[in-house]
Amino acid sequence: MKRGFFITFEGIDGCGKTTQMDLLADYLRDVKDVPVIETREPGARGLGEKIRELLLHYEGEVSPQSEMFLFLADRAQNIETIVNPAVQARKYVLCDRHTDSTVAYQGYGRGLDIEEINMLNSIATRHRIPDLTIVIDIDVQTSLSRLGKDTDRIESEGVDFLNSVRNGYLTMAKMEPDRIKVVNGMRSIEEIQKDIIKLVNDLD
Ligand code: ADP
Ligand code: TYD
Repeated sequence: MKRGFFITFEGIDGCGKTTQMDLLADYLRDVKDVPVIETREPGARGLGEKIRELLLHYEGEVSPQSEMFLFLADRAQNIETIVNPAVQARKYVLCDRHTDSTVAYQGYGRGLDIEEINMLNSIATRHRIPDLTIVIDIDVQTSLSRLGKDTDRIESEGVDFLNSVRNGYLTMAKMEPDRIKVVNGMRSIEEIQKDIIKLVNDLD
C-alpha cells in the first residue's frame, strides 16, 4: 500500500454506519490484508470520551454555538491523535461521523451558518479532507423505529429536525459528488455492504 486512506461514514441516526463500518474493517483486514483502525466522533477515546459524555448527556442548557465548538474540539483531538498518525503510517482509517455531521446537524438541522461551519471544520481538521465519505441514506421513519425509545439529547430532536439533517446530507452529496457517495440504506445489510466494498476498492 503506497498511502493511507481516510474514509468517513455519515447519515442520520440508526442508518447502519456502525454495522457497515465494522463489516468493512473485517473485509479490509481479512480479505485485503491491510492495516485498519476504527475511530468515531464524538468521542473515540480519552479526552474525546469526556466531550462525548457532555454532548450527548448533559441535561442543562446547551447553546447551538457551544455545541458546535464541542464537536469541533473533539474533532481536532481525533484528527491529531488518531487519524493523522494512522494515515501517515499508511493505514485505512475508518471514522464513524466527521465534518459532514456538523454541517448536517448544526448547519442544516439547527440553522447555524454553513460557510462558518466549513471554515471551522477546516481549521479543526488542519485541512485534511476524507478520501471517501459514505452517506448511508434511510428515511426518518426507519431511523425512529430503529432508535426506539432509548434516545440521547440530539437523537430526541424529532421528525422535522431529522428530515432537515437527511436533506442536508443529500444536498452535500450533490455538491461534492467525487468525495461523497450516497448508498441506499433501506436494503439488507449484505446488499449495502457490497456497494460499500465496491466504492472502497475503486479508491486504489
Ligand atoms: P448507526 O451507527 O448509524 O446509528 P447501527 O449500525 O448502530 O447504526 O444500526 C442501528 C440499528 O439498526 C441496529 O440495531 C442494527 O442492527 C440495525 N441495522 C443496521 N443496518 C440495518 C439494515 N440494513 N437493515 C435493518 N436493520 C439494520
Ligand atoms: P452517536 O451515539 O454516535 O450516534 P450515531 O450512532 O447515530 O452516530 O451520537 C452522535 C450524535 O451526535 C448523533 O445524533 C449526531 C450528533 N452529531 C452532531 O450533531 N454533530 C457532529 O458534528 C457530530 C460528529 C455528531
